[in-house]
Amino acid sequence: MSKILVIDDEQGIREVLSGILEDESHEVFAVEDGIEGLQLLKTEPIDLVLLDVWLPNMGGIDVLKRIKTDYPETQVIIISGHGNIDLAVKAVKLGAFDFMEKPLSLEKVVTLVKNALEMEQLKKENRRLRNSMLDNDEILGDSSGMRRVREIIQQSAAVDSRVLITGENGTGKELVAREIHRRSRRAGGPFIEVNCAAIPDTLIESELFGHEKGAFTSAVGRRKGKFEMADHGSLFLDEVADMSLQAQAKVLRAIQEMKFERIGGEESLSVDVRLIAATNKDIQREIAEGRFREDLFFRLNVIPIHVPPLRERNNDLGILIDYFMEKFRTSPEVPLKRFDDESMQLLHSYEWPGNVRELKNFTERINIMTDEQVLTADLVRFFLGESTPRRRADDFEAYAEMGLSEARDSFEKRYIMQKLREHGHNISRTAQALGVYPSNLHGKIRKYGIKIEK
Ligand SMILES: Nc1ncnc2c1ncn2[C@@H]1O[C@H](COP(=O)(O)OP(=O)(O)OP(=O)(O)O)[C@@H](O)[C@H]1O
Ligand SMILES: [Mg+2]
Repeated sequence: MSKILVIDDEQGIREVLSGILEDESHEVFAVEDGIEGLQLLKTEPIDLVLLDVWLPNMGGIDVLKRIKTDYPETQVIIISGHGNIDLAVKAVKLGAFDFMEKPLSLEKVVTLVKNALEMEQLKKENRRLRNSMLDNDEILGDSSGMRRVREIIQQSAAVDSRVLITGENGTGKELVAREIHRRSRRAGGPFIEVNCAAIPDTLIESELFGHEKGAFTSAVGRRKGKFEMADHGSLFLDEVADMSLQAQAKVLRAIQEMKFERIGGEESLSVDVRLIAATNKDIQREIAEGRFREDLFFRLNVIPIHVPPLRERNNDLGILIDYFMEKFRTSPEVPLKRFDDESMQLLHSYEWPGNVRELKNFTERINIMTDEQVLTADLVRFFLGESTPRRRADDFEAYAEMGLSEARDSFEKRYIMQKLREHGHNISRTAQALGVYPSNLHGKIRKYGIKIEK
């Protein structure tokens, strides 16, 4: 059942159309002029408008234009009198689906309405498909860190070894896990994900291994666990360091032998599953502090992949920004927004504590919520929701995969940014603290595109 709005000043037409369309079991609204019609569109999600082209107050063409800009999803069929076919033709050029002439034929009304609604369905379906495809991001990035990640993905896809992916929130760990599966010989099999942090301790065993009917009070039927569901595919243990020690013991046992029983079951099941695990915790520390079993760690960590945080991948930022700005462009007709020089510098000096996910959300927000075509530093600050970049502890690991000069530059830039912040972005004071000439510091600031906040 669809919602249809009839806008016509002739009461007879409104009654006839309402009758026909209600018989076709649509919900029909009928009003006598465009202003009332537009008012109704504000509150009702209308699928199709039947619009008289010749209307009192606001003319049909103007109403059509407003509908097409404010509700591009809504279809419009024009109703035209004999004398104004030329207007009807113009309306079709402006985006109306079709027109029908008075006196109206029942048959024509029914077919046209049916076609228009089908078209609308198709468009919706198309968009849904496009979105779902778009949501599968490719792993982008040209920094040495990401090149290394891609290399290991390639190598590990070819074998069946277990992989442990580490990295901060939003760096792309899940994306990496899916990519490994996609490129492996198991690609045709299932990719099953378990978020270990989201499952309460009492349920994790049943979630992973399944249960037999009646195994516990709420076990009304037999249920397959994730290990079974992943047979001949990959099992992704996400947030693996968040499992309780008790659950870790069970998982360890299962993966040692790749054998387990459903809860309440006798039969020992064996499966062919490749394990991929991920965590955003510092797993060595979890082990040192007794929260993660070292033996499980060794079992999982056959091939380690560390996804570096975004702030350490200066080369990737531009690529990711371009990609997401295009992805979140509201429609192909809208020109691409671009960042001016100052706002670009700001994006480069920002620390991105939420990494790629934060960048993705930011670009989506800025595309939806502003009409500006050129994005300024003020807008960026507003949409980032904070004016000063956050600080983070340095970690040496970040430089491990870089050549000496890239590592030196990367370090130098962060070091200078940090010192600038400490000295309130005052160049001469910062230069003094660093023991260099201000001109020298100026040169570095230019070289690294560091933005000086006043
Ligand atoms: N290199 C990349 N190229 C393109 N898109 C990326 C990249 N890295 C991450 N993304 C996108 O950023 C979002 C976050 O990635 P993902 O969910 O894989 O991160 P995560 O490390 O698993 O995060 P969390 O630790 O919070 O679970 C996803 O929408 C993903 O598609
Ligand atoms: Mg994740």
